Amino acid sequence: MPGTTSIWQDTHSIAPRPALAEHLTTDVCVVGAGIAGLSVAYTLAKAGKRVVVLDLAQIGSGESGHTTAHLANELDDQYAQLEKARGVASTRLTAEAHSAAIDVIEGIVRAEGIDCDFTRLDGYLFLGGDDTREVLEAELAAAHRAGLTEVELVERLPIRGDEEGPALRFPRQGRFHILKYLDGLARAIESSGGRIHGNTTVRSIAGGSPAVVTTDAELTVRASDVVVCTNSPISDMFITHVKQFPYRTFVVGLRVPKGSVPDALYWDTLDPYHYVRLQPMDATHDALLVGGEDHKTAHDDDAGERFDCLEDWAREHFPVGASSVSPVVYRWSGQVLETHDYLAFIGRNPDGAEHVWLATGDSGMGMTHGTIAGILLPALITKGTHRWTQLFDPKRVTLHSTELLEMAKENADVALQFRAYVTPGQVGDVADIPAGEGRVVRRGPHKIAAYRDAAGTVHECSAVCTHMACIVDWNTAEKSWDCPCHGSRFDPLGKVIGGPATADLKRITSNE
Ligand SMILES: Cc1cc2nc3c(=O)[nH]c(=O)nc-3n(C[C@H](O)[C@H](O)[C@H](O)COP(=O)(O)OP(=O)(O)OC[C@H]3O[C@@H](n4cnc5c(N)ncnc54)[C@H](O)[C@@H]3O)c2cc1C
Ligand code: FES
Repeated sequence: MPGTTSIWQDTHSIAPRPALAEHLTTDVCVVGAGIAGLSVAYTLAKAGKRVVVLDLAQIGSGESGHTTAHLANELDDQYAQLEKARGVASTRLTAEAHSAAIDVIEGIVRAEGIDCDFTRLDGYLFLGGDDTREVLEAELAAAHRAGLTEVELVERLPIRGDEEGPALRFPRQGRFHILKYLDGLARAIESSGGRIHGNTTVRSIAGGSPAVVTTDAELTVRASDVVVCTNSPISDMFITHVKQFPYRTFVVGLRVPKGSVPDALYWDTLDPYHYVRLQPMDATHDALLVGGEDHKTAHDDDAGERFDCLEDWAREHFPVGASSVSPVVYRWSGQVLETHDYLAFIGRNPDGAEHVWLATGDSGMGMTHGTIAGILLPALITKGTHRWTQLFDPKRVTLHSTELLEMAKENADVALQFRAYVTPGQVGDVADIPAGEGRVVRRGPHKIAAYRDAAGTVHECSAVCTHMACIVDWNTAEKSWDCPCHGSRFDPLGKVIGGPATADLKRITSNE
């Protein structure tokens, strides 16, 4: 059975960058080397700014390395829904922004000669479950009002028989190999004088002139502007986190003969929805990447079942070969941040910290949202204005009742997570933890995150998340401690690997 390495990590490696080893002064410090961070750094470096990028791991090791990299101007929550929440003027700007992002990626691929399998292709939205034609008709009308006038209703999907229509066809979508793209972006940044440092965890960011970034090695980067692209922001500890919610989403990759599935993007109308695309593997086969089965982070630990459901769903809808032989060659998962009103937060840090900017909340649209950050934030930094400023403003509050209700429900769920302080541990004793696994154990009033390594040694940390003190939970598939409240993640030994937390889980020594 395959592990949880993504197809991108399996087929391309990016040279690691060294850790920051000195204090620096620069024009812009970008924190996070995923698609958002590198898109921002690329635009600024090309504009002649001195840019320093810092990442706690390496280029593309966050959610960007776990994506499926659909490049779409169809919104994953659909235009009909966005229109109800924010009106037609907003859907028009949204369609413009996501379309521009695909154009920008295509332009960068050409200008920098990045060999990353970039392809333009159609995207199809088709009916899932009991959804009816009216859902597609409403979305078609909303997409047209948003300015996507080439979208059309077709009676059949290219993959399936007569019984499988109707669907909406979105022309000129895209797909690429994300790590090859990020590799190309990184090289272009460096050849324009930018610096990229891996293995450098940012612990704090202070706004001002200059703004100051402090790392785990107590090194500082003083910058005229700091751009926080850590997926979940580490500069704003509260405001954005009550308006966005972490979900885990799952992917299987099935080996299929070339030509057996037409090359397109496919999404169904379910919530959570399925998302499907091809990625070339070799001369004779492609990988059919099938994603979905989302659930709230750390609310279930059942990745195996989610992968099985995706394989069953793929068999039902695509020609993937005999059921006696599993064609699954990849299985992985990742985290997305769903905002209260379907659009990312990109702009000035909402707590007012001077010269601090952020990009977050990109949902299942992070490839385009990250690229939009690469257009919008450099414009705000250098010119102070852009036509998309209000659309993505991190301080915005959307007053439509459905979205307010959803936000209240999500935050009530966060409050409920504090029950974990009084519940029993997942196992009664660390002796019950198998090698290579972690479990939360109760010891008196304390919850302990205990991990047994392959050699049998048990490593213990406090299970209290260092962001706002929720109790973390073990993620069996990804071997990490995940926080159910705002999605912070920690490796088995408690080292922070994803924000909003910036501090590691507190280690427990044998004397405590
Ligand atoms: C399974 C899956 C499928 C998806 N499919 C699609 C899709 O088809 N199309 C699409 O558009 N989007 C998709 N998405 C969403 C998209 O992949 C993400 O939204 C996007 O990659 C996020 O990019 P980012 O640069 O914001 O974050 P990341 O790629 O996570 O980068 C953030 C970086 O910040 C670093 N970091 C964090 N904390 C610190 C710190 N304290 N100090 C220093 N560095 C730090 C991390 O190490 C990381 O490298 C998918 C996501 C998943 C999980
Ligand atoms: S991520 Fe906020 S409490 Fe853990």
